[in-house]
Amino acid sequence: MRVAVAYKDTLVGRKVMMAVTGIVLFCFVVGHMLGNLQVFLGPAALDSYAVFLREFLHGGGLWLARTVLLASVGLHIWAATSLTLESWAARPIGYRMQRWRESTYASRTMVWSGPILASFVIYHILHFTTGSVHPDFLPGAVYHNVVSGFRVVPVSVFYIAAMLALGLHMYHGIWSMLQTLGLSHPRWNRLRFAFSTGVTLAVVLGNISIPVAVLAGIVR
Ligand code: HEM
Repeated sequence: MRVAVAYKDTLVGRKVMMAVTGIVLFCFVVGHMLGNLQVFLGPAALDSYAVFLREFLHGGGLWLARTVLLASVGLHIWAATSLTLESWAARPIGYRMQRWRESTYASRTMVWSGPILASFVIYHILHFTTGSVHPDFLPGAVYHNVVSGFRVVPVSVFYIAAMLALGLHMYHGIWSMLQTLGLSHPRWNRLRFAFSTGVTLAVVLGNISIPVAVLAGIVR
């Protein structure tokens, strides 16, 4: 137990924690996007999928998933914050000239794409789960809530912008996670790049297609 507690406090321990919780969040985001795409199959498909999620394991499945998700988000944010603060403390005076040799644009944006995503998720739950910020929310009518929600142009624009932040965060997150897990080698880097880019593009474009289809009148 003591060994486990000490390990989580090491640099590598926290990086592994980021990678493992990142995998859980990654699986959720991919699964959620595939579930959401059922909006293209019509109200019956999306609404019965939502009923299935709610009734899975007599209602226990959803709460189990919510608990794992919440714990992963909490640990992910904790490890990210402590690693960032530690790296800032190691270099209290900024460089006179910033030279971005080792970092990519996506890696430098992690510090703000993370908080934007956390704020998006809070708004998103108030919008589609509790309906508190949705003017036309009907409990259980998921298809109706999605379509009427995205008919509001600023809301759709906000979702699309949040998906771009998700893309930057996911791309760098997957890339770093594969590195932490030992897949950093010139032989693997091509595959690593193809996987990080391919999955990120699929999730971002899949999610963005929903508000765009509503605004274009394809889904109504
Ligand atoms: C355009 C993209 C998205 C659409 C259309 C969408 C749609 C929905 C809908 C309809 C619900 C409520 C489901 C129900 O009550 O049965 C929901 C819940 C949720 N979504 Fe999304 N979502 C999108 C993107 C995302 C993203 C990118 C994330 C995470 C980064 C996310 C995280 C969540 C979470 C955490 C919940 C609450 C699950 C629960 O505890 O019930 N969603 N989403």
